[in-house]
Amino acid sequence: MLLKIQETADFLRSKISSSPKTGIILGTGLGNLVTQITDKTEIPYEIIPNFPVSTVEGHSGKLIVGKLGDVDVLAMQGRFHYYEGYDMKAVTFPVRVMKALGIETLLVSNASGGVNPDFEIGDLMIITDHINLFPEHPLRGKNFPELGTRFPDMSEAYSKDLIAKAKQIAAEHKIKVVEGVYVGTTGPTFETPAEYRYFRTIGGDAVGMSTVPEVIVANHAGLKCFGISIVTDLGVPGKIVEVSHEEVQEIGNSVQPLMTLIMKELIRKV
Ligand code: HPA
Repeated sequence: MLLKIQETADFLRSKISSSPKTGIILGTGLGNLVTQITDKTEIPYEIIPNFPVSTVEGHSGKLIVGKLGDVDVLAMQGRFHYYEGYDMKAVTFPVRVMKALGIETLLVSNASGGVNPDFEIGDLMIITDHINLFPEHPLRGKNFPELGTRFPDMSEAYSKDLIAKAKQIAAEHKIKVVEGVYVGTTGPTFETPAEYRYFRTIGGDAVGMSTVPEVIVANHAGLKCFGISIVTDLGVPGKIVEVSHEEVQEIGNSVQPLMTLIMKELIRKV
């Protein structure tokens, strides 16, 4: 694994001239932020050694290095989901590579189903914490001390400092944000009403199929994390309607510009 990480990092270093400290993982169909990146180098996942290849509709699957405002960033447009069949080491491999490239802060976005009854469709939820319900843990197996400690602390998996800054940015721009706990589960089914109720009962505010593995590995690697989720549908009794991937993307699209603004401003302040 260590050699593979090095090999991939070396390949990417040969393609880029900057040394970004901020990494971004953009969720399904949430590539809007990329349009704001200038001086871009785009590297399709297909040509990156040891990278899995993304298959889900709505993902373009490329790494983009460039400037967001004045700040050098490395962004992943499209991520690898456990439900696609990748194991957790593959899902989180790009985070290892980011760390090897010198990334210190990781920003992630996703779409989710809200289970907090106060939430509305289209809300932006700043992720304050998560519950890991994936059946495979990304750190299971041999631990490489070079990558991180055997038993990582997760008491502040999402940086309080970045959360505070993001809230301040949202307030300055009069963007409504909510905060909450993201429950990460495999999918690819959306939830049954009983499952949504369960996720609420155990302390969740929103549920989705990503993010948790990457944030676990980022914490293992000592990266500061920030996550934001677009609530695209509601798993709240009385408000549950049929959900489709297309609707998730549609709502995601409509709210993306606000999320982009928050992320862009936050990146200036990390
Ligand atoms: N459940 C799980 N993942 C999701 C949902 C949902 O309701 N909406 C968007 N991603």
